[in-house]
Amino acid sequence: MSTYEIVYQEDARGVNWKDLAEVYKRAPLGKLDPGKLRRAYADSEVGCFAFSGAALVGGGRTISDDEAPATVCELVVAPEYQRQGVGRAILRSILRKLAVPRVILACVHGQQDFYRREGFLSHKSVMALYANTQWFVENANLESGDPANAAAAYSD
Ligand SMILES: CC(C)(COP(=O)(O)OP(=O)(O)OC[C@H]1O[C@@H](n2cnc3c(N)ncnc32)[C@H](O)[C@@H]1OP(=O)(O)O)[C@@H](O)C(=O)NCCC(=O)NCCS
Repeated sequence: MSTYEIVYQEDARGVNWKDLAEVYKRAPLGKLDPGKLRRAYADSEVGCFAFSGAALVGGGRTISDDEAPATVCELVVAPEYQRQGVGRAILRSILRKLAVPRVILACVHGQQDFYRREGFLSHKSVMALYANTQWFVENANLESGDPANAAAAYSD
């Protein structure tokens, strides 16, 4: 456990993208290429990073066109810093900066109650189209459908 106070910043100053990729991997939120992460954050509307001393311990980002509902793309906290209010602080920082007071997100299965505590509700009519439908059916609460339809949507 660190004795540093957590510091939150909106810009990517001092962010080491390999470190952020490592946080994603350990959180876990998946294996992401550091270069792609840097581009994704650069192209996002609002980002926030959490530091404990020099250590990057969390991040999050949203995309928005300032008209349609913004999308929270990712929110991540290093395991040893989870359940200490860091994720909530990142999320609130992001939401404060958005121009539109409407936000949607596709939640990692099992994290719904974290978002419910911040006022989010499940949307009964949100739809998704993924080429790898079956993975989402098995791992992410997507209703069963015909995988051939999704495959066809992405074919020529
Ligand atoms: C989800 C995540 C970002 C939450 O961040 P965190 O720093 O651990 O959460 P916080 O400590 O800020 O939690 C705020 C509150 O929500 C609660 N909470 C956190 N995760 C929760 C969960 N999965 N289910 C229920 N409650 C949860 C906390 O106990 C805390 O409660 P309190 O208001 O009584 O203090 C973090 O656990 C994480 O990075 N997980 C792995 C990656 C991931 O799944 N990201 C989500 C993408 S949708």
